[in-house]
Amino acid sequence: MEKKENNHSKKHVVVLSGAGISAESGLKTFRDSDGLWEGYNVYEVATPSGFAANPQLVLDFYNMRRKDVAKANPNKAHIGIAELEKDFDVTIITQNIDDLHERAGSSNIIHLHGQIFQMRNVLSDKIIYEIRDDINVGDVDENGIQLRPHIVWFEEPVPMIEKAASVVMTADIFVVIGTSLQVYPAAGLINYAPSYAQKFIIDKKIPSTNIHDIIAIEASAGEGVEMLKQYLY
Ligand code: APR
Repeated sequence: MEKKENNHSKKHVVVLSGAGISAESGLKTFRDSDGLWEGYNVYEVATPSGFAANPQLVLDFYNMRRKDVAKANPNKAHIGIAELEKDFDVTIITQNIDDLHERAGSSNIIHLHGQIFQMRNVLSDKIIYEIRDDINVGDVDENGIQLRPHIVWFEEPVPMIEKAASVVMTADIFVVIGTSLQVYPAAGLINYAPSYAQKFIIDKKIPSTNIHDIIAIEASAGEGVEMLKQYLY
């Protein structure tokens, strides 16, 4: 596959990020040895059946995540990616529910797994409300329907996946940062990068992929983004 050159437009950098990009901001990842899934049962706190069984436990799990994110700040990696907008068209596809890419200054962000500062009622994701405080059992919308975080749980569809796949297909440069690539459909996005795209993966411990021409930068996210810039400039 070859791409037609368009000298007037900037190259499109597509970033797929995961929890590892926010680790240096003090937010726990999921599957590292001190990760969230060491301390919590994923089926209890991140599935619809877990919510049905014990809604307050699930709400409290996300109430804690919301407090942690509110205290955290973007790190060198988020900022370095935001700075790429000076010279590239950048789209970020993040699995993260934090807002650290936004606060670092990035403008095009697709949240695959929802956002911690948003909520909706338990029946529909059509109306989204902003939430900074806790959500508790008994907190309802104007129609009396219980509210829940606007987070995609395991066993739920990922509404943004098709849009994300179409974005990856337009990448000139595709960068994966800080994800174990264990959760689908997000992990499958790497297969949509065009053959002509330059591909990079930045991780403290590079996960295996089936992409033969991906350049692996085994480093923390902050350092890795600096090294990425040496390739791009
Ligand atoms: N710098 C770079 N990479 C790091 C760092 C760091 N400082 N710390 C950890 N990592 C890497 C780990 O080596 C691992 O590959 O980040 C990755 C984190 O992987 P996971 O914890 O599995 O997080 P993620 O891939 O984002 O999880 C995907 O799983 O539970 C769900 O919905 C949740 O969106 C999440 C999804």
